[in-house]
Amino acid sequence: MLDVRLVPTKIKDYQAIVVIDVLRATTTMITAISNGAQFLVPVETVEQARIYRNDGFLLCGERGGVKPEDFDLGNSPLEYTKDVVKDKKLVITTTNGTKALAKAREHSKNIILGAFVNFSKTLEYIKKFDDILFVCSGNDGEESFEDTQVAGAFIEKLVLLKEYELSDSALISLNFWKSIKRPNFTGKHSRVLKAYGFKDDIIFSQQLDIFNTVVIYDGDKVIKGE
Ligand code: MLT
Repeated sequence: MLDVRLVPTKIKDYQAIVVIDVLRATTTMITAISNGAQFLVPVETVEQARIYRNDGFLLCGERGGVKPEDFDLGNSPLEYTKDVVKDKKLVITTTNGTKALAKAREHSKNIILGAFVNFSKTLEYIKKFDDILFVCSGNDGEESFEDTQVAGAFIEKLVLLKEYELSDSALISLNFWKSIKRPNFTGKHSRVLKAYGFKDDIIFSQQLDIFNTVVIYDGDKVIKGE
């Protein structure tokens, strides 16, 4: 079974859950791990992140798209270069993405971060599962044009490999993706990010397979998957 939540509600137990916040939380976390960060601890609030300050963590994330003043890094994947994150421990909180991870944690032992920047490696990893739920983090409770593209792109490839039953939301995502065929980030959150000066993040996040890393959430930490 392949299933999709277009917004992170009504999540059920699944063998594997792929959490998608392509603009920008999952793209950013995948970039951090691919550039050598030890791990990221995703937390739901800015206050929870601050608790880690004296334990050698970099404080990362955003509220309203912008880095909290006392944080080390915002939520732009371009900030997470090797120079900055290699061997570092990070704690991250974002408006939608880290909340979706927390929800997914209650419903599966196998949680994978989904985005385009490491698409093929993630596909290779998830094809072993028979029941997969794609959870789009969305925009403050609303559907995301961009997250839905990632879900559809995975489903398009998976159905070529195995016979899966598709839920209606999986069919919607698949047919939507088939109608556009390649990443097209022009939805509401893309427009907001552009207005905030984050145009380069949009260009970066649309890239396919610039990393050969699979990134998972073990319930405590976001780490490299094997
Ligand atoms: C989120 O988690 O809501 C997003 O990643 C927001 C952002 O683009 O910074």
